[in-house]
Amino acid sequence: MKKWTGCACVLSALTVLAAWNLNGPAAAGKEGSKPADDPAIERTRDTVRMLDDIYKTAVVLITDKYVHEETDFAAGSAAVALFDAIKKKGWHEVRLLDATGEPYDDENTPRDDFDRAAVKALKAGKTWFERVERRKDGRFLRVATPIPVVMKKCVMCHPHYAQAKPGEPIGLLSYTVPVR
Ligand code: HEC
Repeated sequence: MKKWTGCACVLSALTVLAAWNLNGPAAAGKEGSKPADDPAIERTRDTVRMLDDIYKTAVVLITDKYVHEETDFAAGSAAVALFDAIKKKGWHEVRLLDATGEPYDDENTPRDDFDRAAVKALKAGKTWFERVERRKDGRFLRVATPIPVVMKKCVMCHPHYAQAKPGEPIGLLSYTVPVR
C-alpha cells in the first residue's frame, strides 16, 4: 500500500512540473519562436529551452519537498544564488524577475528595455519572447519565459498572487546566452 501512496505523490508532482514547463521539446517552434534562420541561433534557443525546463523543474521540486513555512529558505532565493554562481562562472546570465509590480525583492524589478517589453508580451499570452543582441564580445540571444502561479504554496509568501488569473504570468525568467 505504501508503494501506491508514493506513486500517487510522484504523479501529482509530475503534473505540477508539466504545468510549469511550457517550453519543453514538444513546444519547439511554437508561437513566438522564429524559424531556424541561423543554425547557431537555433542551437542557442534549444539550450535555453533545456535550461528553462531544468531551472523551473528544480524550483517546483524544492518548493514541493523542502519549503513548508514562510521562514524556510525559498526556492526563489536558491535560484537567485544559483544564477549568480552560473553568471560568475561565465556560462550565461539568467534573472528571476517580477511581472506584477509588487516584487518580494526590488532587485527583481524588470529594468531594461528588453525585460519591460518581455513583461508586456508574456502578459499578452506569449510563452516565448526573444531578441538577438550584437555586442563587442559577440552575439547574445535574450529570451524571456513566463512563470505562472503553479502551486497554492506560492501564495504563502506572495499573498497578492491569489489575485492572479489561472495561467497568468506573475514573473519571468530572463536569459542572456552567448550565441556560439
Ligand atoms: C518561503 C517563501 C516563498 C515561497 C513559498 C515562494 N516564494 Fe517566490 N520568492 C520568495 C523570496 C524570498 C523571493 C526573493 C528572492 C531573492 O531575490 O533573493 C522570491 C522571489 C520570487 C520571484 C521574483 C520576483 C519577486 O517577487 O522578487 C518570483 C517570480 C517568485 N518568487 C515566484 C514564486 C512562485 C511561482 C512560487 C511558487 C512555486 C513562489 N515564488 C514561492 C519567497 C517565496
